[in-house]
Amino acid sequence: MTTPAANPGMTTPPWWDDLSTAVLVTDAELRLLSLNSAAEVLLGLSRERIVGHGLGQWLKLDRNLANRLRSALTLDQPITLRARQMEPLRADSFLADVIITPLHAAGERPGQLLFELNAIDRHERISREEQLQKQQAITRAVTRGLAHEIKNPLGGLRGAAQLLASELDDSGLKEYTQIIIREADRLRSLVDRMLGPNNMPRREAVNLHEVLEHVRGLVSVQLPLGLKIRGDYDPSIPDVQADRDMLVQAILNLVQNAVHALEDGGQITLSSRILRQYTISGKRHRLVAKLSVRDNGPGIPEEIRERIFFPMVTGRAEGTGLGLPIAQSLIQLHDGLIECHSRPGATSFDILLPIDSPQGREETH
Ligand SMILES: Nc1ncnc2c1ncn2[C@@H]1O[C@H](COP(=O)(O)OP(=O)(O)OP(=O)(O)O)[C@@H](O)[C@H]1O
Ligand SMILES: [Mg+2]
Repeated sequence: MTTPAANPGMTTPPWWDDLSTAVLVTDAELRLLSLNSAAEVLLGLSRERIVGHGLGQWLKLDRNLANRLRSALTLDQPITLRARQMEPLRADSFLADVIITPLHAAGERPGQLLFELNAIDRHERISREEQLQKQQAITRAVTRGLAHEIKNPLGGLRGAAQLLASELDDSGLKEYTQIIIREADRLRSLVDRMLGPNNMPRREAVNLHEVLEHVRGLVSVQLPLGLKIRGDYDPSIPDVQADRDMLVQAILNLVQNAVHALEDGGQITLSSRILRQYTISGKRHRLVAKLSVRDNGPGIPEEIRERIFFPMVTGRAEGTGLGLPIAQSLIQLHDGLIECHSRPGATSFDILLPIDSPQGREETH
């Protein structure tokens, strides 16, 4: 492939970031010259940080591949790698079809390599995500049904205890009615949480950084000594049409979990990034905001890791297991999704929130 001799550098075309294929270009020394948004997402890196660095600094390169890349340049021959396991150093590994094409100015030797990466397990992610959402919807319906059944007689129970209290003279007996009332109230608030959000979002233009900073402020005042919470925001994210209170509630639930998981020296980071061409629940969006709550705690216990978004799943003695399903419902009401990645020392809950309306469905079969 030939690049214009006048501009072998990286003035990228306007549609560069609209490509769903991850594309990147290196020089002959395998230093990164440019990458598009899809590549940023796939490799978990931002271009500001990695442009100019060697390929091996952000992607595991075995000697065999490095040699093939060099000979592609010398022989001016493209390489196609089918279903190759790619291992970025700062993101999850993935399977991809990779096409590498030497680029050169007319009449010159190749001086750059163009990489096109088509992640083939992306479809698997999307269909797994859809399956999980279906399961969560069923569980939510069962939980809501159960919560309603408990809630109905609860009012009668409480009212009867109140009536009884007013008829009783013996303060010792009155004490029992107080216990019934207190426990009925506790059960009622639990059941209300089990029912989840009961309103549709009241959407308005929301500044996501203001929301993140608000949550940081709320948590900071009651943060246990020895824990830190910091912000790391991409200032270019536009306002989102969303229900501010619902977003605050969802983020707060995630941050509170991080606080519970952390011990002395623990750190929580709230961050915001923008993703382009991202698929959520089968719908492709041009722009998606990714709000992350990360912590350096012990990680989610292995035995519940797959089930944490289901109601009543908890790893804490005093937990009710409702914080995450509620947060997930709140974000799903905004056509978004919460994803989780966790290992000891690094847990991240990512809220993916569409900024624009979807561009169409992505078929997974
Ligand atoms: N950042 C985290 N680090 C480690 N474990 C976590 C983290 N976030 C969630 N968990 C695990 O997931 C479980 C479920 O979280 P969820 O918020 O749904 O319920 P909970 O915190 O137990 O109770 P609730 O939020 O209803 O008071 C937690 O009990 C905890 O074991
Ligand atoms: Mg919680």
